[in-house]
Amino acid sequence: MAGQSAAVSALEFVENGFTVGLGTGRAASAFVEALGELVRAGLTVRGVPTSDATAELARRCGISLVGLDDVEGLDVTVDGADEVDPHLDLIKGYGAALVREKIVAAASRRLVILVGPEKLVDALGQRGRLPVEVIPFAAATCARRFAAMGLAGDVRVHEGNTVVTDNGNYVFDCEVAAIEDPAALDRELCCVPGVLGTGIFAGMADAVIVDDAGGARVMRR
Ligand code: A5P
Repeated sequence: MAGQSAAVSALEFVENGFTVGLGTGRAASAFVEALGELVRAGLTVRGVPTSDATAELARRCGISLVGLDDVEGLDVTVDGADEVDPHLDLIKGYGAALVREKIVAAASRRLVILVGPEKLVDALGQRGRLPVEVIPFAAATCARRFAAMGLAGDVRVHEGNTVVTDNGNYVFDCEVAAIEDPAALDRELCCVPGVLGTGIFAGMADAVIVDDAGGARVMRR
């Protein structure tokens, strides 16, 4: 996974006065901690968290938080990802924060992604899982529609409990192989009533910082 050098390298995308989207997961948390150090050293930023967990961490790090209602837009969002393809398209959502992550990323001028080399794939879907957030009321109907599209899978369960997102919804993990046209699959899934959003982030990332053994390497769109 992405480590400290990717997190520190991402700080170069942040300027004084910026409104910064704060992603969710281990890589994003490393960035929040690194940003917190700069804030303690005098940097002024406002953070928009993509999950309750990130909000809690950011507060502990001394980062001022605002909601989407309070800002016109964001300057940059820094987040992790579960897969990155050669076009810098992504699959996200193994950490169940995909919908808020996509909303915040879409409101940002730039999206910077931090990953370890194990997240780089030739084609999205290679790790076998595509998370889709669904409204609990529609879980059964969504599952049938996904099956009709050739996508088996299940509502995510962790330690015996159904995973519930910060939005009060379920995550359906679709079983996938290499996806031929990620943007088209995203559009198709989003047309299913009850689907809030998918983990496909097509055409959104501006830069991906890969934490290789030798240090951080930046890939740009
Ligand atoms: C959260 O829903 C995800 O999109 C994470 O950003 C993604 O799973 C990457 O997480 P890690 O940095 O913990 O691998």
